[in-house]
Amino acid sequence: MIFVGELSELPPGESVRVQGEVAIAVFNADGELYAIDDTCTHQDASLSDGWLEGCAVECPLHAACFDLRTGRPSGPPAKEPVRTHRVEVQDGRIYVHETAPVGAAPVAAEAAVGEVVR
Ligand code: FES
Repeated sequence: MIFVGELSELPPGESVRVQGEVAIAVFNADGELYAIDDTCTHQDASLSDGWLEGCAVECPLHAACFDLRTGRPSGPPAKEPVRTHRVEVQDGRIYVHETAPVGAAPVAAEAAVGEVVR
């Protein structure tokens, strides 16, 4: 779980970048918090520097739009989605639960619930 900051420091319409396994962009879209991978899947641009409109962010480099709920681009030039991450607020503090890295080995169901896997 990655600490992002105080909820009061991320008002609607704002974004912040935090570092997990990779950089993650966290957005406050009209009071709803979303987290996605920060790097555009087209080229090397930071989506936290993009323009937030509703539930989408427009890449600052070539204007691909990514849906913050799904990570999917709405059209070219980006073709691949960015990963989405779960956001949680505890006592006014924002945290992100980073999704497993792309290509990571799946976790056995037994291990996920705390049982020993042999
Ligand atoms: S770098 Fe994002 S659309 Fe090109």
